[in-house]
Amino acid sequence: MCAEVDVGNGLPGYSMVGLGASAVKEGGVRVRAALEHSGWKLPPRRVTVNLAPADVRKDGAAFDLPIAVGILAAQEVVPRAALEGVLFLGELSFDGSLRRIAGGLPVALFARSLGVRALVLPRACAAEAGMLPEVPVLAAGSLPEVAAWLNGQCELERASQVRTGGLPPDDNDLSDVRGQEYTKLALEVAAAGGHNLLLVGAPGSGKSMLARRLPTILPPLGEEEALETSAIYSAAGKLDGGGLVRRRPFRAPHHDVSVAGLVGGGQVPRPGEISLAHNGVLFLDELPEFQRATLEALRQPLEERTITIVRARASVRLPASFALVGAMNPCPCGYHGSSVRACTCDPKSVRRYRARISGPLLDRFDLQVYVPQVDFKELTDERAGEPSATVRARVLEARVRQQDRLLGTRLHSNAQMGPRDIARWCRLDGESMRHLGEVVKRRGMTARGVHRLLKVSRTLADLAGRDAVSRIDLQSAIDFRVLDQEVL
Ligand SMILES: Nc1ncnc2c1ncn2[C@@H]1O[C@H](COP(=O)(O)OP(=O)(O)OP(=O)(O)O)[C@@H](O)[C@H]1O
Ligand SMILES: [Mg+2]
Ligand SMILES: [Zn+2]
Repeated sequence: MCAEVDVGNGLPGYSMVGLGASAVKEGGVRVRAALEHSGWKLPPRRVTVNLAPADVRKDGAAFDLPIAVGILAAQEVVPRAALEGVLFLGELSFDGSLRRIAGGLPVALFARSLGVRALVLPRACAAEAGMLPEVPVLAAGSLPEVAAWLNGQCELERASQVRTGGLPPDDNDLSDVRGQEYTKLALEVAAAGGHNLLLVGAPGSGKSMLARRLPTILPPLGEEEALETSAIYSAAGKLDGGGLVRRRPFRAPHHDVSVAGLVGGGQVPRPGEISLAHNGVLFLDELPEFQRATLEALRQPLEERTITIVRARASVRLPASFALVGAMNPCPCGYHGSSVRACTCDPKSVRRYRARISGPLLDRFDLQVYVPQVDFKELTDERAGEPSATVRARVLEARVRQQDRLLGTRLHSNAQMGPRDIARWCRLDGESMRHLGEVVKRRGMTARGVHRLLKVSRTLADLAGRDAVSRIDLQSAIDFRVLDQEVL
């Protein structure tokens, strides 16, 4: 997008074309005030500002600075040649000072793709854009400062490269959880391969506690991943100038979240929870409590790992590659399948409860485990379980194996493999293949279910340090799908 400014003959006035949203129109008032306050008068001629492309709705006040600079250049207050290859963005106050805008980092990524000479941004948000070594980001405090720089009268300060910060630290640890060895293994597999995980169990069995400890065993973000995730936080205005997001995001929206809040959208398309969870985890606690339409909206991004938000005049595609973790009770009373207390629900209400989550969505959970209640003796055991650091070390090793295999592709983990990768990397021996065939037939599994099962087998083999997927890996992956087995 760009702003073209034309100062021509005609009745004195100021008009803007190109579908500026109200914020841009109000920008006209701000630009005029900022120019006058800084000692420049709008010419007694016609000023036409064209925001291109015309069919894309522009929002936000980021166009104030380029419009003002355009007017100054049209009046030859600053040399036009000095604008060559420079990208300007920023909101102006009436007094000519520059205010922060959201999305400094995506702007920098865009600037990198254009190969600009410099990117000029308000000082308050320059740091988050200054993280790309290829793009010189210059921080300006006011319009007169920008004009002085364009006239070669001063230097603009180069934005410092803040490279840490982002999400707050986490003081949970897996060792807080007593017992639950099998559930912890499922968590480890989910972390190692980036798989979706559903935890089903009685109230108080520790589902939420376990899920919230998943981030403590996830591998760190790679450099490109960190940029991708940070760009989304920057666009959502959630980076607070604090530097790159360095930890994988863990988003846990409440069950009353709207469709737009979850997948993104709104008048001005904003990233939803699934994009904020990009390269990390989306945790939906109390899964059956979410609106059905909200959950169904997850189906497409869960397959495609991106989300397209369609609006009347424009559509935006945002990345949304996340691992989904869900937690739920098995029935309305919560004790179906429990060894501690009897379930008081009739079979019909159990079925109705489960039907709140559609078959296609359930099918997308690669790992589905029943979380049992630990007994009193286990709960009060003095010995702490394995710490997160130990589990994380195994996860990292399994990730290294995946990265070696996926080198040269855009994939980061087993969960992201497509059918062709699966055919290549999840080969089974004849006996395992026959066994899988029987299971698929007996359970009526879908093609997607089979592919997800094979990817989990691959991760189990990676955790065990095996090059080929073994019969044991396959069987463990099969056992990790309790809802398919109808044992619950
Ligand atoms: N295995 C465990 N080791 C240590 N503490 C546990 C364990 N399981 C449960 N707890 C304790 O029980 C509390 C409740 O667990 P949590 O909230 O995770 O249960 P839940 O399965 O999510 O229940 P609900 O279905 O009601 O949401 C935890 O905060 C913790 O104090
Ligand atoms: Mg809970
Ligand atoms: Zn019940």
